[in-house]
Amino acid sequence: TAPLRVALLGAGTVGSAVARTLTHEADDLAARTGRRLELVGVAVRRAGRDRADLGVDPALFTTDAAELVTRADIVIELIGGIDPAKELILSAMAHGASVVTGNKALLAEAGPTLYAAADEHGVDLYYEAAVAGAIPIVRPIRDSLAGDRIDRVIGILNGTTNFVLDAMDSTGAGFTETVERAQALGYAEADPTADVEGFDAAAKAAILASLAFHTRVGIEHVHREGITEVSAGDIAAAKEMGCVIKLLGICERTVVDESGGEGISVRVHPAMIPLGHPLASVREAFNAVFVEAGSAGELMFYGQGAGGDPTASAVLGDVVAVARHRVAGGKGPGESAYADLPVLPMGRA
Ligand code: HSE
Repeated sequence: TAPLRVALLGAGTVGSAVARTLTHEADDLAARTGRRLELVGVAVRRAGRDRADLGVDPALFTTDAAELVTRADIVIELIGGIDPAKELILSAMAHGASVVTGNKALLAEAGPTLYAAADEHGVDLYYEAAVAGAIPIVRPIRDSLAGDRIDRVIGILNGTTNFVLDAMDSTGAGFTETVERAQALGYAEADPTADVEGFDAAAKAAILASLAFHTRVGIEHVHREGITEVSAGDIAAAKEMGCVIKLLGICERTVVDESGGEGISVRVHPAMIPLGHPLASVREAFNAVFVEAGSAGELMFYGQGAGGDPTASAVLGDVVAVARHRVAGGKGPGESAYADLPVLPMGRA
């Protein structure tokens, strides 16, 4: 039997880790999927960089991503952002490929469009890496808890801000000084806006809320407040009260009108958590997601929310899942899994 053709878009930290594993663990992955996964191309922005460390045939590198997606069974999109990622994914699906992506911004902005295309072409759309890196949370909410009723999802969804708040808590230092330290240590980007203003967490919260409540939540529905106004004094005051301050993504069922109609509220903001709550123990740059479900009760998922190897673990799990569908038949849930629930207007909680 012919191998499954895998195209990789992006060879940054995560893409490189994915390429390395696809190459070095090819036998194991073939045993798990029932078919060999053959890397047929790696799309990069600029040609000519030496990527010998990946163990990938140099001839596989291309700057023509648009062409590459037309000749694959599975496309892994790790370039991020809206353009050209969106068009490349839609083209890949139109050419019959299943798609694995880590693109939270794109899913939070255009999730329904991507789902509709996946349904139309009968292919899979998997994105475990888009929320909380290595932590299995997308598929547990989408699949394992699909027979339960989820009431609330509360997550520490951004490692950078958790690192900063945790460091402020342990040192007593202020926000600006601590961000600079986080940048020097490689925990914060040179431009930390997407993290400290809560945009990254808001995109992840939108994705989790869509899955948890079987509805469509875009980033435009998420009330968002970052951590830039959190002072050393706020943290000290929280400590006095036996609490820590965390940037939380909160997705919950709520009453949306006077007649008791049900809807949902999704918000990202700094919050005080009592030290006894499991989320209070999440230190440094770790992520965690706390789920409250009717029958399952309370669940907590914990782990590394970023980094090459941890995020590659989530990507490759998805690759194996969609490859198994190719081999044995079947497909993951699509747009038809969604029912409309009203989402509270942004800013109301
Ligand atoms: N910048 C993100 C974080 C990692 O700090 O958690 C990728 O989503």
